[in-house]
Amino acid sequence: MLIKSQTEIASHEITDRKVFESRRQFIKAATALSASALLPNQAQAEPGKYANAAASPYSIAVGTTDREDVISYTNYYEFSTNKQDSTLLAKGLTTSPWSVEVLGETEKPGVYHLEDILKDNPVEERIYRFRCVEAWSMVVPWIGFPLGEMLKKLKPTSKAKFVQFTTLYNPDIMVGQRSHVLEWPYVEGLRMDEAMHPLTILATGMYGDTLPNQNGAPLRLIVPWKYGFKSIKAIVKIEFTETMPATAWNKSAPGEYGFYANVNPEVPHPRWSQGRERVLGSSIFAPKRATEKFNSYGEQVAGLYSAMDLTKFF
Ligand code: MTE
Repeated sequence: MLIKSQTEIASHEITDRKVFESRRQFIKAATALSASALLPNQAQAEPGKYANAAASPYSIAVGTTDREDVISYTNYYEFSTNKQDSTLLAKGLTTSPWSVEVLGETEKPGVYHLEDILKDNPVEERIYRFRCVEAWSMVVPWIGFPLGEMLKKLKPTSKAKFVQFTTLYNPDIMVGQRSHVLEWPYVEGLRMDEAMHPLTILATGMYGDTLPNQNGAPLRLIVPWKYGFKSIKAIVKIEFTETMPATAWNKSAPGEYGFYANVNPEVPHPRWSQGRERVLGSSIFAPKRATEKFNSYGEQVAGLYSAMDLTKFF
């Protein structure tokens, strides 16, 4: 994976939630006011599809990264290994209609339309930290629903120990799939208890609107305590398995990218430190942010790994 110079987040990282929310209200009101004042004869922009998504107690109370930075610096190797090119090329993907095949150790295999999945799984806003293994990070207001709630409805059998996710394979559109930079299609996986954890979501949107194609539309995984490569985009298949799935990055470089990939500043990547992170959108002069174990979600998730030696790379 590539690393690009970006730097540290700002003082708004430590904003108290009430201040943060009232500031959001203020900014919303001020934006609406200035828009109507400046553009009296023009129709105002439509509110995003998810403008009224419910807030979630799982959100963290820190300022979010500027949307423009999040949508213009993306990792999407199906399109390109270059972050700006993948952003542009991904616009060519048709994301509706969309369906997800469910198979493996489940009592309810089948092909599910995304609309039907969304009818059964109400979305909410989750403001999460996101830490890429390349040592940059961002804070994103995702729109999504708990993966575990969907999985329960699919009634996994007692043999289901892992969940495997697969991205669309379509080299006509996903031109990066014509190269051998990874073994396609992109595959990721979680242990069943990780998949069922309430912090794990399937996202359909961000910043109050649908996901831009380059950020994984129409459906992607978000696992906030793991390095970003676990958060697989454009999911077309969910398979319950008895054995640990072989994942794209692990197959490509097993000595560098493990299956678990939990954020851990104490375990360096073989080629760079994981101790600090550059925050998207911050000044190049700002100091880097200290990376937190489990990306700050340790209180909620450390228990999942009590039987594992976390000083080892995995
Ligand atoms: N999913 C697919 N299908 N293909 C990819 O190349 N890149 C991963 C992850 N999910 C990737 C993917 C990596 S390395 C990261 S850091 C995040 O997506 C980046 O998400 P973003 O582009 O929305 O910031």
